[in-house]
Amino acid sequence: MSGEYDAEYRRASADPRGYWGEAAKAVDWQRAPQTMLDDANPPFLRWFPDGELNACHNALDRHVEAGHGERLALIYDSPVTDTKQRFSYRELRDRVARFAGALRSLGVGTGDRVVIYMPMVPEAAIAMLACARIGAIHSVVFGGFAANELAVRIDDVQAKVVVAASCGIEPGRLVPYKPLLDRAIELARHKPERCVILQREQQRAELIADRDLDWRELEAAAAMVGCVPVPSGHPLYVLYTSGTTGQPKGVVRDTGGCVVSLLWSMRKVYGVGPGDVFWAASDVGWVVGHSYIVYGPLFNGSTSILYEGKPVGTPDPGAYWRIIAEYGVKVFFTAPTAFRAIKKEDPNGEHIERHDLSRFEALFLAGERCDPDTLDWAQRRLGVPVIDHWWQTELGWPACANCRGIELLPVVPGSPTKPVPGFVLEALDDQGRPLPAGQIGALVLRQPLPPGTFIGLWGNDERFVKSYFASFPGYYETGDAGYIDAHGYVFVMARTDDVINVAGHRLSTGAMEEVLAAHPDVAECAVIGVADPMKGQLPLGMVVLKDGVRREPRAICDEVVGMVRERIGPVAAFKLCTVVARLPKTRSGKVLRGTMRAIADGEAWKPPATIDDPATLEEVGGALAALGFPDRGEA
Ligand code: COA
Ligand code: AMP
Repeated sequence: MSGEYDAEYRRASADPRGYWGEAAKAVDWQRAPQTMLDDANPPFLRWFPDGELNACHNALDRHVEAGHGERLALIYDSPVTDTKQRFSYRELRDRVARFAGALRSLGVGTGDRVVIYMPMVPEAAIAMLACARIGAIHSVVFGGFAANELAVRIDDVQAKVVVAASCGIEPGRLVPYKPLLDRAIELARHKPERCVILQREQQRAELIADRDLDWRELEAAAAMVGCVPVPSGHPLYVLYTSGTTGQPKGVVRDTGGCVVSLLWSMRKVYGVGPGDVFWAASDVGWVVGHSYIVYGPLFNGSTSILYEGKPVGTPDPGAYWRIIAEYGVKVFFTAPTAFRAIKKEDPNGEHIERHDLSRFEALFLAGERCDPDTLDWAQRRLGVPVIDHWWQTELGWPACANCRGIELLPVVPGSPTKPVPGFVLEALDDQGRPLPAGQIGALVLRQPLPPGTFIGLWGNDERFVKSYFASFPGYYETGDAGYIDAHGYVFVMARTDDVINVAGHRLSTGAMEEVLAAHPDVAECAVIGVADPMKGQLPLGMVVLKDGVRREPRAICDEVVGMVRERIGPVAAFKLCTVVARLPKTRSGKVLRGTMRAIADGEAWKPPATIDDPATLEEVGGALAALGFPDRGEA
């Protein structure tokens, strides 16, 4: 049938209250909302303000009570530890209820914050759901972040308890989490009362008396507890994401909006039903992990896969196809970078042919721009629709997609298709005027944003307003630039700020610059994102040394590379650095990052009219050429 997407989109835009009020009926409320939207105090909107519910009840108990307790809820597949484990809805509910009791025995109650610093183990999901069960607010920190980043998050969210594992496992090395946690607590001004440590046999950790507790002992001694209903606007979680500075933004997601939107999106965007197997190959530390490894599939009564491994090397580029075949995955979601890694090792898709993918129906890609080559390769090799879709931590669920649960529209390479019902997207010029079709501008979303989008930044209303709602009154500014074509297809082209995207991970060049600037020999610095065929972008640092520094530039570069790894974490993938005599700037002192990036990417560039000294660009061109980035020269 055709026209269904258009009809549904129009309904959601014309009457958001009616549309989402209808969607909310699919959710189990302790008290059903009578008011659908409170928009009295923009941009602070509240969906379903008088409703009461519990997210864990909607994820687990609800399905058990409906007679689906034996259905598979979660499959843990870990090639790095050679472990496979399956949890039915009943088993997962019981584990969660007991761990919720354990948290409560530590004095954790409604509104308390719990930081979760764990690798991809089922206990990470159990801890998240246990928090939701008792109304505690979780804040998951990705394992690839270093102690300092963990400390910043513990401080900002004022964590009462931290739940961590003794170690994570990266191919070829163990990542001892416990020393990172100890260091983070040392650095943090706010000291959590307790740490709960999951001891993994690959590397056990020393526990600190009076502070650290063993997960298993605590869980074994705990009583199971029930779900605590909370107001719809109660924060389900805070998830930190990169902004333009070293201080990450604590994105707050409300409970009611999250349950309604994720349940709706599982069916309408992904076309996945109860009992279907859905797999998002991401990490619980990212928004994709929150929405589509843990909450979305469980709200929907589907089976979710939690995979502790990589697309390649664990053990080979057939790992994804093995999982899809073994568990009968219907819909799979990952980042284009993973496909580029697979394509590099298995260009002819020979590993794909070794597996039975007959139950596989669609691949969704997100996290970064999907290059048409990757899309084409995936489509040809897999023979299923490959759907690029676009969203952000702040939005919580896809804002642009090909909604296969409504109507599969023709795939246009390079486009995440069209806005999802509920999201009214426009491309605006600097003055906030709508641009004609095909012209690039700031991508913005008209208020009200639909349910499930962020309701604030933790403890920082001012930054919430200033970062997202100040430039274009009445709109949410996405921070992405792009255009909408004459057929309504959206093209997301670049960020408008200093955020870069490395292997699908969102990182702040500003945060890296703060680290570089802290080196005693560095006078000034700039970090830019340069194109990389596998990771999409890589950070590259340029440093100017203080007068009188006579040390070997290579040694200083190695030191700053080590500092970024130490302070931000290995996930920053900061390995490219060079020393330059001066940074190119405008006469008003603004560093010309965009021009430097164009030089590094081999694009044609032009010195801006406001440049202070054109010779600085030649110097930078020379330094980049020495790193292997040939300058195509001035346009
Ligand atoms: N804990 C500790 N360290 C971690 C980590 C974690 N959870 N995740 C990554 N790291 C480390 C890696 O070991 C690596 O360290 P190294 O510099 O010592 O090699 C570094 O951080 C960079 O990791 P990564 O970006 O994963 O690069 P990689 O070269 O190891 O692997 C890919 C490349 C493409 C295979 C990998 O990035 C990948 O699987 N990407 C998919 C990303 C994704 O799904 N994103 C979710 C968005 S939807
Ligand atoms: P994150 O908040 O980590 O999910 O990162 C969100 C950012 O990743 C967006 O603002 C985009 O810049 C980028 N992004 C995510 N998905 C896509 C996509 N499908 N196409 C282009 N860019 C994307």
